[in-house]
Amino acid sequence: MDAKVTNGDILAEKLRSRSAKIGIIGLGYVGLPLATAVTTAGFRTTGFDVNRSKIGHLRAGESYVEAVDSQMLADFVQSGTFSPTCKFLDLEACDVIVICVPTPITEQRSPDLNQVISAAESIAGFRRRSQLVVLSSTTWPGTTDEVVIPILQSGGLISGIDFWVGYSPEREDPGNQDFGTTTIPRIVSGDGEVARSLTARFYSAFVETVVPVSTPRTAEAVKITENVYRAVNIALVNETKIIYDAMGIDIWEVIEAASTKPFGFTPFYPGPGLGGHCIPVDPHYLAWKARELSTSTRFVDLAGEINISMPGYVVAKLGEALDLHLRKSIGSSKILVLGLAYKRNISDIRGSPAQEIIETLEKRGAEVLLHDPHLAEFSITDRCSECSRRKSIVLDATTIRHMDAVLVVTDHDEVDYELVAKNAGMVIDTRNVMRRLKLDCRVLVQA
Ligand SMILES: NC(=O)c1ccc[n+]([C@@H]2O[C@H](COP(=O)([O-])OP(=O)(O)OC[C@H]3O[C@@H](n4cnc5c(N)ncnc54)[C@H](O)[C@@H]3O)[C@@H](O)[C@H]2O)c1
Repeated sequence: MDAKVTNGDILAEKLRSRSAKIGIIGLGYVGLPLATAVTTAGFRTTGFDVNRSKIGHLRAGESYVEAVDSQMLADFVQSGTFSPTCKFLDLEACDVIVICVPTPITEQRSPDLNQVISAAESIAGFRRRSQLVVLSSTTWPGTTDEVVIPILQSGGLISGIDFWVGYSPEREDPGNQDFGTTTIPRIVSGDGEVARSLTARFYSAFVETVVPVSTPRTAEAVKITENVYRAVNIALVNETKIIYDAMGIDIWEVIEAASTKPFGFTPFYPGPGLGGHCIPVDPHYLAWKARELSTSTRFVDLAGEINISMPGYVVAKLGEALDLHLRKSIGSSKILVLGLAYKRNISDIRGSPAQEIIETLEKRGAEVLLHDPHLAEFSITDRCSECSRRKSIVLDATTIRHMDAVLVVTDHDEVDYELVAKNAGMVIDTRNVMRRLKLDCRVLVQA
């Protein structure tokens, strides 16, 4: 071998020629779209997940993520360019391994890095040289340096010499029709210049714009900052909604008009509360780290407090409306909840405010029917996947007329809102969908 050609050069050339083998750990909302983007770019990809049922679906060419087309998946699996597996050892031959496992919080709202640690420990067990390992899970600034690299080095190999480590946060926005894995600019970083450059080269193969930053710590902070920014601004607009509602001012009209200012105002929209795996969770990663450094995160804490109270506000508005217009209590009412996913046009129900709203209504004695075009059957509580299995009802005029109120929690595009407007006695709208579509309702309450 030419003495001037380094192992980094060899991997760079493999990435350029697409002969590098890529492994993805965790095939969820982030890992599966990534795996298909990488395969589309011409790499052979191995996807590992601990969930055998998911691997079974993938092998059968069935996608469980809206952004991934089943036919494309089936073609990849059949041609052998994408291999879903439950065997971790299948990743050993990979030149690049991307970790896309969940980073939840514990009941005490502390970071739970168990899945990241487990993935890193398994990779360390390979003791394989010249591999690039990229962490993509969202986490507190410092995780790659302080947690992942020490584990990867535990087998005796040294980061930056024997193998390389990068951090590249995932900015995927499920349900977003305008931006996806390949068009959202990618923040990339590495433990050292070679690691950063290899990470950038890898993502450049299938992402339009790559944005290198100085260190993994900075890249981790970029992701956390983006999500703290969203959490704080959503809380601000939710609080403003409550104030304006008491003043008889429509927050949606205010935002629409304020958005005409060409600078200095970015619109955020109110809603029934936060959901999903990111915005309600990630700020706690920063808060936890801040506590360790004896600093506080007052904005984060206040935003959390406001956002957490929103499902309760929606139930209170519903209760007031039932009392005012029907002289009924929640306990003696029939409510149809429209939309259970945490946001529009996706099926992800994790942490959705609909769960708390439904649980509260049922605890208070209401009869609750549910409709979500993205979910045929589901469990309304995160705490137990098997209990409280419920079915989405078929939305028809008779059922809607039979209800005291229709509560819009998530405004999926597929719902026939005209049918709802024509037949519902009362609509409680947390998303402004009825006014947005200019539909007349008998009674419409913004919540
Ligand atoms: N979902 C989003 O919109 C989104 C957006 C940006 C960033 N993120 C971040 O990306 C990461 C992944 O999130 P997600 O939404 O894809 O989660 P997910 O729950 O949809 O998918 C994670 C997958 O990892 C698997 N898994 C868990 N532990 C594993 C292990 N030890 N080894 C292999 N597989 C394992 C699970 O079975 C699951 O299929 C998180 O850090 C999240 O915060 C998510």
